[in-house]
Amino acid sequence: MNITLVAGARPNFMKVAPIIRAIQQAQRDNKNITYRLVHTGQHYDKKMSTEFFEQLSIPEPDINLGAGSGTQAEQTAVIMMRFEKELIENKPDIVLVVGDVTSTMACAITAKKLCIDVAHVEGGLRSDDMAMPEEINRIVTDSISDHFFTTSKMADENLIKSGIESQRIHFVGNTMIDTLYQHLNKLIEPRICKEQNLTSGKYFLITLHRPNNVDNPAKLKELLDYILKGSEGFPVVFPVHPRTQKVLADIAYAHERLIQTDPLSYLEFIYLIKNSRAIITDSGGITEESTVLGIPCMTLRNSTERPETVTVGTNILIGTDINNLENHLKNLQQNIWKKGAIPELWDGKTSQRIVSKLISLYGGKNI
Ligand code: UD1
Repeated sequence: MNITLVAGARPNFMKVAPIIRAIQQAQRDNKNITYRLVHTGQHYDKKMSTEFFEQLSIPEPDINLGAGSGTQAEQTAVIMMRFEKELIENKPDIVLVVGDVTSTMACAITAKKLCIDVAHVEGGLRSDDMAMPEEINRIVTDSISDHFFTTSKMADENLIKSGIESQRIHFVGNTMIDTLYQHLNKLIEPRICKEQNLTSGKYFLITLHRPNNVDNPAKLKELLDYILKGSEGFPVVFPVHPRTQKVLADIAYAHERLIQTDPLSYLEFIYLIKNSRAIITDSGGITEESTVLGIPCMTLRNSTERPETVTVGTNILIGTDINNLENHLKNLQQNIWKKGAIPELWDGKTSQRIVSKLISLYGGKNI
């Protein structure tokens, strides 16, 4: 069988890396399985893309569609036009898309219109917040995919509720956690740790990049002021996403305890999570990583598409009422936090399960 694997933006890279490893293992086991890796080019910087490929040992993509920056409609259109050409020239048995970024949706639509099967890795997640572009990407992708590889039973239920037959839903766990386990013994201490005298358990880590948190300068300033007030006495490390960088530069935000850096590489960022006192974020993936690493996490959103990080893991939904943050930060100052556990099947073997399932569905007989 031939698979076309799509990766476009930073959070996709951690999800495709272990799937490629699992395919390579199946090839060594003489299974008849090949893949083409398509990078859409949605993220293209060294910091947002190249370093991830290097650190996660992802092979050079077979093609880069060079989508680049633009509005979401522009990115979607460019990706669809170029991916269509790629699929016509190299028709696979199935296209595998991961996550919920613009590239995920654009490539799923393109494949389906060419009558090529689509499997969605991380299908079934729902935040029920239609103001998030990712929620639209999830709903559109799931509405046309043929197979769904899910990270939780809740995701399965969401798919069943939307009318999808259970035989097409495969609860396999979380490929991002495969990557986490595969790299835990290779973490790299970022330069800022020495430069800023950061010690384990004695700093906060924050990430903010959601349009509704960062695009409005006044809102971003308010959020940062609040976080800094609540984290009294501790440095706050802030690797700044390019989207946020532009707004921060406009308002020239600075604070003596706020340590701003460029986006960090994967191995550096996980090092920072693992050694932080707590994380304050609006990302989804980071809530999963902090759950597995047992680090307290506060999410600055009203909803999450990853509820198991709250019900099972270390994550707490703060919402957009900033006063909630203060109460939780006070608890943390007294070391009061739930311990959390690791969600079912987040065991580092998800990608093997995905590849085995694909082989059983599409053939991959010994050669
Ligand atoms: C995208 C995803 C989001 C994911 C995030 C992780 C969508 C709708 N959103 O959001 O789910 O959590 O990636 O990073 O797909 N830029 C650079 N260099 C790059 C890439 C982008 O400078 O390599 C700049 C762009 O010019 C743009 C901004 O960053 O101004 C946003 O990039 P974009 O890919 O449009 O969306 P993200 O906000 O990164």
